[in-house]
Amino acid sequence: MNVRVYETKNSVATHFAAFLEEEIRGREEYHMALSGGSTPRILFEELSKTDRYKIDWKKVYLYWGDERCVPPNDEESNYKMTVDHLLRNVPIPEENIHRIMGENEPSVEALRYGILLERELPSGSGIPVFDMVILGMGEDGHTASIFPHEIHLWDSEQNCEVATHPESGQKRVTITGRLINNSKEVAFLVTGAGKADKVQSILGKSQGYRQYPAALVEPVSGKLSWYLDAEAASALQSLNSD
Ligand code: 6PG
Repeated sequence: MNVRVYETKNSVATHFAAFLEEEIRGREEYHMALSGGSTPRILFEELSKTDRYKIDWKKVYLYWGDERCVPPNDEESNYKMTVDHLLRNVPIPEENIHRIMGENEPSVEALRYGILLERELPSGSGIPVFDMVILGMGEDGHTASIFPHEIHLWDSEQNCEVATHPESGQKRVTITGRLINNSKEVAFLVTGAGKADKVQSILGKSQGYRQYPAALVEPVSGKLSWYLDAEAASALQSLNSD
């Protein structure tokens, strides 16, 4: 595992954008699952600087790790956030974009999207393989839309499941552990002081850390990176200096 700490959110985004540019350069096709959340939003704005990042968007195929069950023009939609901050700014072909349809009935959509992933992605040991899954982590240790109170969804035999947000009750469609851990590479983008204690528990493997879905991310490829800002890494640093 690779842990990278940068001073600010923005510098997490610029370093990760530069890393992606380099990764995509060497590939014929690049299949990437995106996340919602505040740090990906800054990354998307960064990647929109087409004069800075020379990315051949024709070979980039986009998917989502999770989606809120709302229409695609709703302010809560992860797809809408991506359109507003990235897709309208870069020359990516429409047919390369595979969104989760939040407007559909959730269980029907979980099934449909799971089948779509089987069809669109290369497979490894019978399981679809992303080149990259970008993940965020919530303050409660959730990742994608697998929350601690539904951690059993992680081990689902399905590619996608319907999840429920613990406070709002909002339905979500999320990919499951079998897909995340079968990805060639997984990167967490985690920023802000509110994440510091979960980052410390998970990376420090403190007692009970596996109750947090983010702790179950262990890609078989071994390629897992955590991109943190100084605030999210603050409990780690104080531990190290004790
Ligand atoms: C979502 C997510 C979710 C998110 C984390 C972190 O749709 O809500 O994909 O897993 O990445 O909640 O979000 P922040 O970066 O905004 O804290």
